[in-house]
Amino acid sequence: MDTENLIKLATEARENAYAPYSNFKVGAALLASNGRVFTGCNVENATYGLTVCAERVALWKAVSEGEREFVAVAVVADGERPPLPCGACRQLLWEFSGDIEVITANLRGASQSYHLSELLPHPFDRSSF
Ligand code: THU
Repeated sequence: MDTENLIKLATEARENAYAPYSNFKVGAALLASNGRVFTGCNVENATYGLTVCAERVALWKAVSEGEREFVAVAVVADGERPPLPCGACRQLLWEFSGDIEVITANLRGASQSYHLSELLPHPFDRSSF
């Protein structure tokens, strides 16, 4: 699975986003080390606080299907700049994925790739205790 296809899957997943409060639709596609891809979109709630990010939906889908090893995640939204995962999702991705590739893209053709360790330096994880 190449970067372009992962972005395409995240873009398609974004179409299912339920974001009536923020109107900010996000899609994610998480690539497991065995090649399976799990997609997610943000799902908002009237309480606001119970909103779940696209990355987390993809991660929970994957883990609940038995996948725990990942190599890359693509995140797509329609902003001026490619979207960056929130701090909580960075932490949750780190738990299972360690230093995976994080590809971000907007709908205007801009994209950027990071290592998760760039976005979450000095993480707290099982090696911390
Ligand atoms: N959101 C995501 O889905 N992923 C992120 O990494 C950042 C934020 C969603 C949550 C909420 O539905 C909307 O974007 C605005 O914050």
